Amino acid sequence: MTEHKPLPIAVLASGRGSNLEALMHACNTGQLPLEFRLVASDHAEAAALRRAESAAIPTVALDPSGYRTRRDFDLDLFARVAASGAELVVLAGFMRILDAEAIAPWTGRMINVHPSLLPRYRGLHTHRRALEAGDHEHGASVHFVSAELDGGPVIAQAHIDVRADDTETTLAARLLPFEHRLLPAVVKLIAEERLGLHDAVVTLDTIPLEQPLRLVDQALQRA
Ligand code: GRF
Repeated sequence: MTEHKPLPIAVLASGRGSNLEALMHACNTGQLPLEFRLVASDHAEAAALRRAESAAIPTVALDPSGYRTRRDFDLDLFARVAASGAELVVLAGFMRILDAEAIAPWTGRMINVHPSLLPRYRGLHTHRRALEAGDHEHGASVHFVSAELDGGPVIAQAHIDVRADDTETTLAARLLPFEHRLLPAVVKLIAEERLGLHDAVVTLDTIPLEQPLRLVDQALQRA
């Protein structure tokens, strides 16, 4: 077990929640010192909420149609996140564009996992777009969140080869287990207070990253 104090986190998820599960598993097996303060969703039926409930993690589902504007929704959501005592927010399949004002207080304290080698393929359908482009390599990124969709500074990436017979489905399925290793590995560095963000530059042990860290086997390495 690590000697670091558990990091209070909130996870935002719109759907399945397999990345949330990966974080919960890493925590339960003593690999990651976390305290899950809140799992929030914009879909009451999200499987991610059921996973959290089964582990007695507090949950909230907010219906965007109940708010006058996107900003109103985001301000309410992040007020609840702040009230939970979370010090880190993890977006794990949270399928919404976020309001710049609402997320400003979370700069450097909010990360997202995205299924592409950013800056390639921000937004949706990343596997299809990688195949259509004829890429030989695909991957996943974890980045600090900025107001720009999938545009914040990249912390770490996992790379996989694209096979000649890959389809959108097979590529997504082969990438997902790498996401499940990448995200906890990044959260661990944050829990250990080793990662920073200064003037949009990511630092590890106070030294700027010139390239995103790279997942090799289970470990993150400087590229
Ligand atoms: C993942 O592929 C993640 O990279 C993307 O949305 C998907 C969420 O999957 N942002 P899950 O809900 O964590 O299973």
